[in-house]
Amino acid sequence: MNATPRRTVLVTGSTSGIGEAIAAAFARDGAEVIVNGRDPQRTDGAAERIRATAGNGEIHAVAADVSTAEGVHALTDAVPDVDVLVNNAGIFGAKPAFEITDEEWSRYFETNVLSGIRLTRHYAPRMVQRGWGRVIFISSESAINTPKEMIHYGATKTTQLAVARGFAQEVAGTGVTVNTVLPGPTLTPGVKVFIADRVGDSIPFDEAERRFIAEERPTSLLGRLIRPEEIANLVHYIGSDGASATTGAALRVDGGVVNSIIP
Ligand SMILES: NC(=O)c1ccc[n+]([C@@H]2O[C@H](COP(=O)([O-])OP(=O)(O)OC[C@H]3O[C@@H](n4cnc5c(N)ncnc54)[C@H](OP(=O)(O)O)[C@@H]3O)[C@@H](O)[C@H]2O)c1
Repeated sequence: MNATPRRTVLVTGSTSGIGEAIAAAFARDGAEVIVNGRDPQRTDGAAERIRATAGNGEIHAVAADVSTAEGVHALTDAVPDVDVLVNNAGIFGAKPAFEITDEEWSRYFETNVLSGIRLTRHYAPRMVQRGWGRVIFISSESAINTPKEMIHYGATKTTQLAVARGFAQEVAGTGVTVNTVLPGPTLTPGVKVFIADRVGDSIPFDEAERRFIAEERPTSLLGRLIRPEEIANLVHYIGSDGASATTGAALRVDGGVVNSIIP
């Protein structure tokens, strides 16, 4: 019986939060993992933390801004091939709809959508040539339940669903799958700041978390923020050999916050 080969896994935006947890999950499984963020020190720091828990996983750090074509070129020059691409890097924030400027709309699309498109255009055809690959876009429950104070963010997350489905159709029957994962509200450094902005930072975080879920995400069946490792569990599975029949799908790991039986 042939053993599964060691996979090379690139997780964009893996210096913190969900991306770091995803990178750590693949690393614990013995993969060769490329950690990415914009800042070399933060990227090295995350690689060091993951290395400490990785067992026989091999960890590399490549700092590159994936919101620009130049940054993506720098990344693909440093890492020409991967077996698993996780398009996780993303930005979010709240702003009234009429106040979102053209520049902000562009920045959200460059960071949350074009980054993944550029990287998939580079890596997926090479996966097809090798006959195996996994591309995973990290979208959000906001793709479906777009909060009115985050329409720029929600629009990028909805677009990712269409983009991933299109790429999945393009690589049909090749051994390469393309899927989208939709996390719900998850306790990451970015979300801690976001909640402090929404609920106020004068109360203990436990209380702010409870209030945020009760008041702003009342449909959550989990009744708490999701932990990054809980998102990583699903992404790790979708990136595995075992997930060979799941492609072109949008998969929720949202604590039931989307009030629907199917995505
Ligand atoms: N947390 C949630 O509740 C939640 C829910 C649904 C979906 N999501 C999605 O999950 C993903 C991760 O969210 P998170 O909460 O873990 O975010 P986070 O804690 O703010 O981390 C964001 C990561 O993205 C990196 N990043 C941002 N812009 C980048 C760029 N231009 N180039 C390279 N890296 C970049 C950051 O690295 P540096 O700052 O070091 O550059 C950091 O590692 C996002 O796509 C988000 O939309 C999150």
